[in-house]
Amino acid sequence: MQKKILVAFATRYNSTKEIAEFIAAILKEDGYDADSKNMLNIKDIDNYDFIIAGSAIQMGKWLPEARDFMQMHKNYLNKVPLFVFSCGITLNTPDENATRKALFATDEIQQYVNPKEIGLFAGKLDENSLCDSDRELIILAKPECGDFRNLDAVKKWIKNIESDYL
Ligand SMILES: Cc1cc2nc3c(=O)[nH]c(=O)nc-3n(C[C@H](O)[C@H](O)[C@H](O)COP(=O)(O)O)c2cc1C
Repeated sequence: MQKKILVAFATRYNSTKEIAEFIAAILKEDGYDADSKNMLNIKDIDNYDFIIAGSAIQMGKWLPEARDFMQMHKNYLNKVPLFVFSCGITLNTPDENATRKALFATDEIQQYVNPKEIGLFAGKLDENSLCDSDRELIILAKPECGDFRNLDAVKKWIKNIESDYL
């Protein structure tokens, strides 16, 4: 039977949502039954055979609803193949330091779930679209603004997962 795949995401400014939608679109194109859904709107996950979960990184961590989602559904997430990805602006320079910091965000969820693969993707930051409190935080951190998403890298990641696990 065809596998049913959930691509669950947590986002503030939609760049992670667009990556999740891109992943779901590739899976559909390749013949799988895939849904991309905001974690805030997901109640049940037990009709999915295969789960991909991604979050934006803020202040070094996954968004709160993503951390809650993983904890709340940990029993089921430990029964099915689980893949996770993070989206962060610091990953626009994928050096050892940025990678280590980004992996720190998923260390926390690995206390209760065991993803088979972790994708690290550069994100997008547009200072003008941030809410005031986020802008203040960003001004202090002084990250480089822009859209650094690399859909080829996302495609490569999901294609490897398809060939290795699906
Ligand atoms: C308040 C705030 C804090 C952030 N902190 C980090 C961070 O610690 N590390 C990082 O790589 N990116 C950080 N970012 C950048 C976002 O993760 C990045 O822009 C991502 O693409 C946002 O995803 P979203 O559009 O789905 O919300 C931060 C962005 C904001 C607004």
